[in-house]
Amino acid sequence: MDYIYFDNAASTPLRKEVKEYMLELMDGAYGNPSSTHAQGRKAKVILESSRKSIAKNLDCLPAEIIFCSGGTEADNAAISLAISDLGVQRILTSPLEHHAVLHAADRWAKHFNISVEILAVDEKGRIDLEALETKLANGPKTLVSLMHGNNEIGNLLDLEKVGNLCREHEAFFHSDTVQTLGHFPMSLKNLPVDFATASSHKFHGPKGVGFLYIDRRVKVSSFITGGAQERGLRGGTESIVQIGGLARALELACADMDQDRAYILDLKRRFWEGLKALFPKAYTNGLSGEYDESLYTVLSVSIPELAQDSMLLFNLDLKGIAVSGGSACSSGSVQKSHVIAAMNPQHEDSVLRFSFSRNNTLEEVQKVLDVLKEMKAKL
Ligand SMILES: Cc1ncc(COP(=O)(O)O)c(C=O)c1O
Repeated sequence: MDYIYFDNAASTPLRKEVKEYMLELMDGAYGNPSSTHAQGRKAKVILESSRKSIAKNLDCLPAEIIFCSGGTEADNAAISLAISDLGVQRILTSPLEHHAVLHAADRWAKHFNISVEILAVDEKGRIDLEALETKLANGPKTLVSLMHGNNEIGNLLDLEKVGNLCREHEAFFHSDTVQTLGHFPMSLKNLPVDFATASSHKFHGPKGVGFLYIDRRVKVSSFITGGAQERGLRGGTESIVQIGGLARALELACADMDQDRAYILDLKRRFWEGLKALFPKAYTNGLSGEYDESLYTVLSVSIPELAQDSMLLFNLDLKGIAVSGGSACSSGSVQKSHVIAAMNPQHEDSVLRFSFSRNNTLEEVQKVLDVLKEMKAKL
């Protein structure tokens, strides 16, 4: 069976060029980058050239990139460091954040006895920025944590606007940029963001590796204690193969970005148009139907005409089509999404998240529409 993979917001397949480079590194760069002998130095060169390449692609300094195990670790680190090292007494965040942020905020806030305030969102998931400004004008030293691109509904945030508000009120700003780094042009030097987070498997790199960007003016100590790796911030021998793969994947993503973006947006647009023609009652969730205000990779829809098919995701899977019911859940079960519930607690229709990548084709779009049409006919 030919599989169709429309779940790229959960994870993207490794790019062939990245895999080849990683295989090269597996054989050739086995030294510990902290060792002073030739094999160690070789690994160190790969580590630092990867960091440089990432910094060049994101327009920041190499020293601002701290490698770690991925988005979850980077989000946790940003939040815990802001509280432990920067004197933050309050976290302002939104109900749309990934659990890596929401659970970390809850945990560290409890641990340090500080407050977490959740900003209101409207029925499209737009964050109330006026309320943010009012809150920032009053209250203690604050960390604002708001994601750039939402993994479930695709909503994009104006980083410049939020970051400038934070600067005006001397708050720190962390943005979970896991869904947007490698997908949108980014000049971290020019963005008013103190912490940003990345995960390589969202742009065709390997899983289990990512980084935390920390603006050079923000002074923090270690978030994982041990050796002095990563400028003393994150102890542990760096995984050279993963880091090399991450850097290569980002290089390729940035080089192909304009072309890929136009191509993927066209797939999303055609898929949504086809879906609407088939199911007149179908609607998009959040801003994912607003092409300028959402991730071009994500289309979140509900299809009332298919509501009777309680096994929809399972039936699509049987047909070799991978999509998600909102968001991938770590336990493997699909639970009601906290993001959808935050926008509309009464939302009853099931949610399908189709997410696309450069590997998908128009032919696949048509095949999935055909399968959905067949399912409709059988109801
Ligand atoms: C927005 C967002 N933040 C954080 C994460 C977690 O990243 P990782 O899988 O690298 O831990 C994800 C992954 O699903 C994500 O989509």
